[in-house]
Amino acid sequence: MLSVLLSRAREYEAERLSNVSPSLLPRFHVTGGVGWLNDPNGFSLYKGEYHLFFQYYPYDTHWNDMHWGHVKSRDFIRWERLPCAMAPDMDYDCKGCFSGSAIELPDGRHLLMYTGVGKTDEGGEIQTQCLAFGDGTDYEKYEGNPVIGADMLPEGGSPVHFRDPKIWRSDGCYYAVAGNLHSDGNGAVLMFKSGDALKWQFLGEIASSGNRFGRMWECPDLFRLDGKDVLIVSPQEVKGDDMNFLYGNTTLCLIGNLRDDSSLDREYEQTIDYGLDFYAPQTVVTADGRRVMIAWMQYWNSVEVRPAEELPFFGQMTLPRELRVQNGRLIQTPVRELEAYRGERIGFAGVKIGEKTSFPGINGRCLDFTVKVRPAGEEFSRFTVNVAEGSGFVTAVSFDSKENTVIVDRSKSGFPEDIMNRKAFPVRGCGGEITLRIILDRYSMEIFVNGGEQAASFVLFAPEEAGDISFEAQGIAEADIESYRLEI
Ligand code: FRU
Repeated sequence: MLSVLLSRAREYEAERLSNVSPSLLPRFHVTGGVGWLNDPNGFSLYKGEYHLFFQYYPYDTHWNDMHWGHVKSRDFIRWERLPCAMAPDMDYDCKGCFSGSAIELPDGRHLLMYTGVGKTDEGGEIQTQCLAFGDGTDYEKYEGNPVIGADMLPEGGSPVHFRDPKIWRSDGCYYAVAGNLHSDGNGAVLMFKSGDALKWQFLGEIASSGNRFGRMWECPDLFRLDGKDVLIVSPQEVKGDDMNFLYGNTTLCLIGNLRDDSSLDREYEQTIDYGLDFYAPQTVVTADGRRVMIAWMQYWNSVEVRPAEELPFFGQMTLPRELRVQNGRLIQTPVRELEAYRGERIGFAGVKIGEKTSFPGINGRCLDFTVKVRPAGEEFSRFTVNVAEGSGFVTAVSFDSKENTVIVDRSKSGFPEDIMNRKAFPVRGCGGEITLRIILDRYSMEIFVNGGEQAASFVLFAPEEAGDISFEAQGIAEADIESYRLEI
């Protein structure tokens, strides 16, 4: 039986979506289609298809009572929209069905694990971890909810900031990690275990911000990859101390080894994405064993920075990325499935670039192109790619070969009131050489540096007519350029 709130959401979105022209939406990046979207939730392989849920408010393009929206795909590129999966219709989640995850159960059901935000008798809020079971379209909330409550928190753990469970199954048992705020102001990741996914026990606090990486830690995910344990989290209120860590909400990857399922011995710490729009990533394992990550391509601190003309939706996901760990670093590359959508290849090898120049056929806003740059003479100090250019708009991606930084300037990218419009980040020094792969999809740009050593995501709202691409250098650079229009 659908609740009144869920039926209302489903009817509303079906009606509104039938009036939204696809020309207003990104071509292959997930949005709610209408309304508001934030974190990816329940990214899972279920009966051979990738399901993705998301934090969703269908009625308005601003955050409000959280529902779960739902899409699915066979290849991470073409997504089919499914009806809203959950609405905040129970006492224990009446203030929102917050973020969570999903797995396929051995008996064929799809299990969602999420945070219910409820009200206390005193009028405050409380967060507990809840379950819903379904068939890939319709979900029933478990009658025994919540399954993890405040009674399982370690001493000092806040029941008001206890959320975003990520569940997985290993050796016949279920595990989950969730974010928590400790009374000493530190964010922490707590780990739980269960034999049946219904009754849970607390295992330990596996990592904490240690007064260094912000306060509350949101949306954890923990997995083993290339011989290491990798914990990803989204900390709030970070005081970024250098170009590596952003101020405010950011994302962090901790790489090391998990000891006794209860503590992570950290060896490396890294920002996951260096752009201005990336938060709350979550991963899934593909049928062929790849670990793939998707994130909300947005940043909480700039959700009010919007295009001049309101679109029917607000909030996009990143392109899913394949992950690897190499030499202690997380390497990210766009899912290989994207390559099936490449049109004709346009390539230029060994071209000399100084003054601003463009190349026939390399333009548009739905493109996958790679430029390999090297110095051609001692004067070379900077190389710039301008995208989404025209009618007074331009987004500039520059490589400063003396400072070994990439600088992105989106002050002319279609945000009338964007005050946080420039981002610089360090890259590995390679004697003035760099490879930039840039993926454009109407309202976004994702940059992958040196084969995925670094990624940087940006939302752009320049109108689609701003489709020129040009290249320029201070001094002379030599470049190999390879470009494909994406036919999606
Ligand atoms: C992260 C987050 C989560 C929470 C959700 C609410 O972006 O704040 O911690 O579950 O968004 O929409």
